[in-house]
Amino acid sequence: MQERNVVHVVGTGTIGEPLIGILSAMRREFGIDEVSFHKATPRITDRPKLMALQQKGATLAATPETYDEFRAMGLNPQYTHLEAIERSKVVIDCTPVGNKNRKDIYEQFDDGSRVFMAQGSESGFGKPFARGINDSALIRGEDRFIQVVSCNTHNIAVLLKTIAGVNGGTGLLENARFLCIRRASDISQSGSFIPAPEVGQHSDPDFGTHHAADAVRLFNTLGHNLDLFSSAMKLNTQYMHSIHFTIRLTKALDREDVLRRLRDERRVSVTDKVSSAQIFSFGRDHGIFGRILNQTVVSVPTVAVRGNEVVGFCFTPQDGNSLLSSLCVALWHMHEHTWDERMRTLRPFCFPEI
Ligand SMILES: NC(=O)c1ccc[n+]([C@@H]2O[C@H](COP(=O)([O-])OP(=O)(O)OC[C@H]3O[C@@H](n4cnc5c(N)ncnc54)[C@H](OP(=O)(O)O)[C@@H]3O)[C@@H](O)[C@H]2O)c1
Repeated sequence: MQERNVVHVVGTGTIGEPLIGILSAMRREFGIDEVSFHKATPRITDRPKLMALQQKGATLAATPETYDEFRAMGLNPQYTHLEAIERSKVVIDCTPVGNKNRKDIYEQFDDGSRVFMAQGSESGFGKPFARGINDSALIRGEDRFIQVVSCNTHNIAVLLKTIAGVNGGTGLLENARFLCIRRASDISQSGSFIPAPEVGQHSDPDFGTHHAADAVRLFNTLGHNLDLFSSAMKLNTQYMHSIHFTIRLTKALDREDVLRRLRDERRVSVTDKVSSAQIFSFGRDHGIFGRILNQTVVSVPTVAVRGNEVVGFCFTPQDGNSLLSSLCVALWHMHEHTWDERMRTLRPFCFPEI
């Protein structure tokens, strides 16, 4: 049993890099003794990032075959990847191969003392989780493999919770449809440019795309079986994902009622802005490592109510909401009695209005 609170992050990409940064910068508030991270590929262009993470106090781990290349770059791995897992209480996989890593590596270390997390693409890794949605579904000691759901799934889930009241029960929800309008690539990426809008297939006969399917699985952990359907398309932008939602309720609410529900939920931000660039820019200026930690930013001028139907647009603080949930599970596992209080450190980065 490890005495120290060590968190090991696997991957240094769009999710891994800010996560290592936040964990390192908030070590004291989070009661963490050490943050280590695994970098797979020794790439000279990644050297500044790795040096910056080390300067923040995080420790580099690598597989032995890559040690020489890292050393030639002037970086000194302190642990092998397996040693770093052995020393950890929490392992947060931020790669697109979390399921493979679970089978090949993590299961060997599953002695009941650790929690392993993977991210949005890794459906099946473990219990799906989103902070503020299914916290009550986490079972201490039993849930050792947890999948932090994708950024758009967080967004869909918090809309359903807030507007339709899906929580302990299914609230007022009849059914809901979502169009996820996705950015083609992240600002940290130089590839995946698309020259024109690209529409997605409805490859899931029941739910359309994986976004609704993932949200259904998330609410299954609370015992609900929701009628959701999603579609997706990509736009040639690097800014935030946007979602168009149509939520049908069992009774009519008036628009003021819907807006009051949105304003009353801490994880929702509302805005009078209609451009994702302006929301993104606000996050860059006022967020933590440039991230807003709200689960959605709803554009108030787009919210319309037609009888039992609530329609509107919102923006997904991509990776901010996944980061929040990853941090939450880490603190929940390490600090049984103080995790919720420690999470309050992050409240300044959840904005009621943008
Ligand atoms: N991007 C987002 O906004 C976002 C939001 C929510 C959730 N997610 C989820 O987060 C996860 C990671 O996405 P990302 O966007 O952060 O990816 P990314 O930027 O492409 O980074 C992937 C990282 O994984 C590492 N990696 C890749 N293959 C590996 C392997 N076989 N073994 C060990 N490490 C490996 C890469 O290491 P090297 O570069 O060293 O090879 C890189 O550090 C996915 O599950 C995704 O669905 C992403």
